[in-house]
Amino acid sequence: MASEYKLLLEGAQQLVLICSKGEHYLLQAAMPNLAVLANASVVIGKDGYIKAVGHADSIRRQFSEASFEKIIDCSGKCILPGLVDAHTHPVWAGDRVNEFAMKLAGATYMDIHQAGGGIHFTVEHTQKTSEEELFGGFKHRLLRMLRAGTTLVECKSGYGLNLDTEIKMLRVIERAKQELDIGISSTYCGAHSVPKGKNATEATDDIVNNHLPKLKELDLNGEIHVDNIDVFCEKGVFDLSSNKRILQAGKDIGLQINFHGDELHPMKSAELGAELGAQAISHLEEVSDEGITAMASAKCAAVLLPTTAYILRLKQPQARKMLKEGVIVALGSDFNPNAYCCSMPMVMHLACVNMKMSMKEALAAATINAAYALGRSHTHGSIENGKQGDFIILNSSRWEHLIYQFGGHQELIEYVVVKGKVI
Ligand code: NIG
Ligand code: FE
Repeated sequence: MASEYKLLLEGAQQLVLICSKGEHYLLQAAMPNLAVLANASVVIGKDGYIKAVGHADSIRRQFSEASFEKIIDCSGKCILPGLVDAHTHPVWAGDRVNEFAMKLAGATYMDIHQAGGGIHFTVEHTQKTSEEELFGGFKHRLLRMLRAGTTLVECKSGYGLNLDTEIKMLRVIERAKQELDIGISSTYCGAHSVPKGKNATEATDDIVNNHLPKLKELDLNGEIHVDNIDVFCEKGVFDLSSNKRILQAGKDIGLQINFHGDELHPMKSAELGAELGAQAISHLEEVSDEGITAMASAKCAAVLLPTTAYILRLKQPQARKMLKEGVIVALGSDFNPNAYCCSMPMVMHLACVNMKMSMKEALAAATINAAYALGRSHTHGSIENGKQGDFIILNSSRWEHLIYQFGGHQELIEYVVVKGKVI
């Protein structure tokens, strides 16, 4: 007889229950919502969604007649929500390991960029690489992320810059959505850099007049669906007025605004994002006090990227001030050839040590709040009835080991589950 339910996770020593109580994000003041249940179980239905969460005894009584495709004995282990990575650039070709040596010798990110390296180097290689080959590299990276506990990840284009290569990247992302288990939120980032031979105004015109209408057409044909629009709002890249034009045009075709801002220079990106109704802004090392206030009242999430601040030795984003002011703080790995880290446990560790977040805050930022930044917190980011059955199961009796241990999480993360399927 076919079983009625897909999976039973039974009797975990600790189950980290992030309860969003309908708000779909957590602030520091709401931290009691991050409760830990002892001796707890979860039932996941055939559709991959959570049907019941609670004390092991009561779940056993409630489901005594039920049949399950699979049961995992979680005694002595911890169950947490699958991690959400709110910012990555994972589709590319070409190796930039030499730039790491340049940075160690004192070159800044912009020194390398202006000398034709950095994004330009990756664009040149990505333009020349076939869709098949790009997919191969991308798939390998996504599988690494999954093994590190990420079950939903934001993936950007942005190493194409010309229309054909941007579309090629977005096709690669679309294929991964169909073929792989990991959840993906895709982002068009054609304004990642000003392409060679154009100035910022010409590039902006091209994006608004050619790229975005093409994306709309591909969406209507059912070929490619993009969720978010991104720009690199930075001195010497795209200024505030270009940003405004591109982001507004993206919003007009139904994309969520989610962009790079206030990273290397104060640009008033946060103020612009709040004005345009952005869902999220990333980086924010140089955000102004007014920008923080504006983001808090606009419920615009701050996606903080501890790997980038660490590798580029930038000033740390002011996570404590943002939390105090009521900003929804999320985390991302910023996985890209500059910040080569696809491990959210490592990102949470850095957020705690370098940005002074607590472990609970870091976990909320890498789950429910990251899901909020992607507009997915109604289905992802916490263990609640009706949400997607995405989990990590730790071979440890205390959940904090996920953040406390620094690297080498393969042994600690015993299972990764996406939509009730054990990966
Ligand atoms: O988020 N700042 C712009 N974009 C990326 C870096 C991309 C690259 O260097 O290839 C970031 O850090
Ligand atoms: Fe980035």
